[in-house]
Amino acid sequence: MSAVREHFGSRLGFILAAAGSAVGIGNLVAFPVAATKSGGGAFLLMYALFVFFICLPVMMAELAMGRRADKDPVGAYRQLSGGSRGWSIPGWMALATPFMIAVFYLVVTVWVLGYLIETLRGNLDLLATEAHFGQFINSPVVFLYLVVLMVAINGILAMGVKDGIERAAKTLMPMLFVMLLGLVLFVLTRENAMLGVKYYLIPDFGKIDSAVVSKAMAQAFFSLSLGMGIMITYGSYMKKRDSIPGSSRAVAITDTLVAFTAGLLILPSIFHFDPQIDPSELSDSSAGMIFLFLPKIFLSLQDSVGYFGASAFAAAFFFLVLVAAITSLVSIIEVPIATLRDERGMSRRKAIYTIAAVQFVLAIGCAVSFGMVNFFTQFVQLAGADKSFFDLVEIIFYDTILPLNGLLVCLFVIYKWKKANFDQELQEGDSTFTGSVSQKYINFSLGTFIPLLLLLIFINTVALKFLDTVLSSLWRKRKRPRLPTP
Ligand code: PFF
Repeated sequence: MSAVREHFGSRLGFILAAAGSAVGIGNLVAFPVAATKSGGGAFLLMYALFVFFICLPVMMAELAMGRRADKDPVGAYRQLSGGSRGWSIPGWMALATPFMIAVFYLVVTVWVLGYLIETLRGNLDLLATEAHFGQFINSPVVFLYLVVLMVAINGILAMGVKDGIERAAKTLMPMLFVMLLGLVLFVLTRENAMLGVKYYLIPDFGKIDSAVVSKAMAQAFFSLSLGMGIMITYGSYMKKRDSIPGSSRAVAITDTLVAFTAGLLILPSIFHFDPQIDPSELSDSSAGMIFLFLPKIFLSLQDSVGYFGASAFAAAFFFLVLVAAITSLVSIIEVPIATLRDERGMSRRKAIYTIAAVQFVLAIGCAVSFGMVNFFTQFVQLAGADKSFFDLVEIIFYDTILPLNGLLVCLFVIYKWKKANFDQELQEGDSTFTGSVSQKYINFSLGTFIPLLLLLIFINTVALKFLDTVLSSLWRKRKRPRLPTP
């Protein structure tokens, strides 16, 4: 057991660190594209409703669990359930999920770092060619960048909560806000930029169907770093005198504003590149957008600002994404570190080495999943298609287990830890919360329709991603002749 638990130094420090976790690749690329393809302003409105009415209470629940238990997710579930064996399972899931999400997120961040370095070396024209991405991700330099990135992230983590995580967030987050605004202001002055803004903002309610609703909800949940044990861990570093509801609101507002503002960067850039574009044809995958499409757009800026100007813009963008990804990775890797420290009594340094070693090996497995090693490239068959190791990690942990973890947090807090204890923790450090409408709403919603919604999303994902495989394997089993039992 570690001697004295570390804490964030100030409320602002906590808000910036949690916002650093929340603001990630998802905000800067996935959100604008999803909004554009799924009804513009209508999607934005629905997303905002999901953030504030569904996700915010879950964030408060995670923070309250962590702060009351003063422990990592495994310890929090154990302690608040009074040592129940059954409830230790969600605790372990809240550990395995961030561990594995960090692995695939590390690989994508390595690519961002690679693209930043190539741009700075004057190779934007190369990045804008179709073939480059495939060549780049299969080149050995990826391993070097992985080492560099892991050293940087674990270096921040080695300095601890206040001097590492909090200080990095206090430096990097304001830088991120300023750079994002600078890029938006620049891009808004480009020709046809307003076409992009219009497309982004004008609502088209006709596009809202059940798939879009589910996408908006999943995006909001992921964007706020929920279901990953991060907020439980960060909650355990919060001071009792700080308000959980107030800080959560600040984090959710910052995260949503950054996502919204990123749309004012991406869409005008796309329409400047091609005013006739049909945004419904944009790639759904963030990686496809960042590495295949955006470099072409950035290169096209050379017509107005020259090759150097276009490269500077592209470098600023990749740097922005890199900063957002690093602050997210710091938060997610802190979860297993906290677990090893709290549950196994390891020192911070030893925990970092242990986790980094395992994550390095798994990240290599993901990095070679794109053709370098056949075993990892065609790792399994799911729903009739080959899936790589990278795909599998993403499908299991990001698509499927995330909403399940959220569902379990709701049920645990309200029905096992009990509403009254949770409510008491939210009132601690926030005198205005007592008797407020938000108090009533949170207590009611977390025990009723929020878990129901998360359950529906979970069922929907399982049906979409796994049912085909399960049904076809059952079918094969039934047709296989029975072997005689010995
Ligand atoms: N909110 C982050 C994002 O939108 O990218 C979610 C996240 C992903 C947090 C991966 C941490 C992480 F390592």
